[in-house]
Amino acid sequence: MPTPLNVLLVAPEATPLAKTGGLGDMVGAYGAALRDAGVAALILMPAYPGALAGVLGATRVARLSGLPGGDGVIIRARMPDTGLSVLLLQMDHLYNREGIYRDRHGRDYVDNLVRFASLAAAAARIARGIRGIGRPDIVHAHDWHTGLTPLFMKLGGVQARSVFTIHNLAFQGNYPLTAGEWIGVPPELLVPALSDERSIEFYGSLSMIKAGIVHAERVTTVSERYAREILTPRFGHLMEGVLNAEAHKLSGITNGIDMQTWDPSSDPLIASHYSVDNVAGKYACKRALQQAFGLTREPFVPLVAIGSRLTEQKLAEVVAEAIPAMLSRHERLQFAILGQGDAQIERRMRELAAQWQGRVGTYIGYDETLAHMLHAGADMLLHASRFEPCGLTQLYAMRFGTIPIASRVGGLSDTIVDYALELGKSGAANGFLFEGETVNAVTDAVRRAIDAFKNPSLWRALQRNAMMRESGWGAPVRRYIDLYCGLTDARPAVSRPFVDTRTAMAAPRSTARPAPQLASAEAAQAAAQ
Ligand code: ADP
Ligand code: GLC
Repeated sequence: MPTPLNVLLVAPEATPLAKTGGLGDMVGAYGAALRDAGVAALILMPAYPGALAGVLGATRVARLSGLPGGDGVIIRARMPDTGLSVLLLQMDHLYNREGIYRDRHGRDYVDNLVRFASLAAAAARIARGIRGIGRPDIVHAHDWHTGLTPLFMKLGGVQARSVFTIHNLAFQGNYPLTAGEWIGVPPELLVPALSDERSIEFYGSLSMIKAGIVHAERVTTVSERYAREILTPRFGHLMEGVLNAEAHKLSGITNGIDMQTWDPSSDPLIASHYSVDNVAGKYACKRALQQAFGLTREPFVPLVAIGSRLTEQKLAEVVAEAIPAMLSRHERLQFAILGQGDAQIERRMRELAAQWQGRVGTYIGYDETLAHMLHAGADMLLHASRFEPCGLTQLYAMRFGTIPIASRVGGLSDTIVDYALELGKSGAANGFLFEGETVNAVTDAVRRAIDAFKNPSLWRALQRNAMMRESGWGAPVRRYIDLYCGLTDARPAVSRPFVDTRTAMAAPRSTARPAPQLASAEAAQAAAQ
């Protein structure tokens, strides 16, 4: 019998072992969904102390010598939540540190190039074949940290095929060209790019993300719209020329989410469970959120959550400026803010909480439990972005019946259906989208959402549409498998249609029903009153 399609996912983080943002969530959940679809999926990531402590059944399987950062050990283990197989690259002098990418002062580790070149080189070795580890048909590398993987695979004459996924083009892993030699990049690939199209030189630097884009056989990004946007100067971060030259192998596949981790009917981190048919428990979640964030405990006021990195990408400085105007205009409006990022924006968010006691609550820091409480307890999620490759928080919010108000860019635009008040009712609407990066654009969108919130039957219909959105990994996994199958003859072990077993087990029965049209949901609501 042929061995099933074997895919090695290479990534700098994977939830629940290591996470700094959506990348970790995507890799952890995608890997498990791929395995559930009959693929022999395996994650390779660094053995950070938290990852070593978090895995189950750790066993040393191989020793790798001569990686760019020295010698390493491969440990095979299982994810604590999904049981997915994971390989940890142990190089304590590189990974045994407090942070994943940065020190406690927020400074990037100076040797990140060597840290992640070592990970890429280990992936290429595994792809060539190591006793005790099944040889992959496909090596799928994620984001700039792993961008050298396809190049090292080529240099090593590896048979396996390579796929590279861009999660955020704003982060490129650009380092001095001279460092290329230390990590084993041949000099002819460090010349000005014009003289050799395989060069990984980028405006005078060595670029790890460019290495991935140029040398992988397929390049994907995490939403369809972002795949188009990054071909333009506005969203290309200067990489648009390279991407246009490689556009024939570029596609967008919108992320799914782990429907079990983010499920209001079973989430252990929220105050009360609820489902699309009975959202009563959401009031208890709202009360708990108000209490945790020092907000006045009023059940019927509009409560807006902000939960993200507080950075320019997330338009956080514009949102901070817009908050006082919104609080003055809507006299009972409340904000719960969870995030960390630029020190100045953090300070501003704290000041707002001090100035608007009881109406603005700010928690600066990273806290998984609070993130669940936030998405469950709020009425709306304000998710502004200058660019957003996919965005996961709007999907988490929708699952909890919390309506997103978001910028019309990238994955936000692909996953949110705008309720266009001025155009009348839209049957599938599940949120609010706005154009532009100004205070007015933000305040205007929030005003539209608050107007809708004042109409309970309309709000309920929006909530139903949001909660019943199919955001699981079923469809995206099928697209990735098709992409892999275009590169190799290996096939998944099961030919039956993909069933997201983790979702199927956890989902409330009602999610099996077709999503109601907004108009008919309203009618049903009216009939019930
Ligand atoms: P990005 O990866 O660009 O930050 P995503 O929306 O894809 O954006 O993913 C963000 C992830 O990080 C989500 O899981 C979100 O809940 C989480 N997150 C962001 N900020 C915080 C925080 N301060 N505390 C806890 N979780 C956070
Ligand atoms: C990046 C992007 C985000 C995306 C995540 C997972 O962090 O900024 O938009 O959702 O990767 O793909």
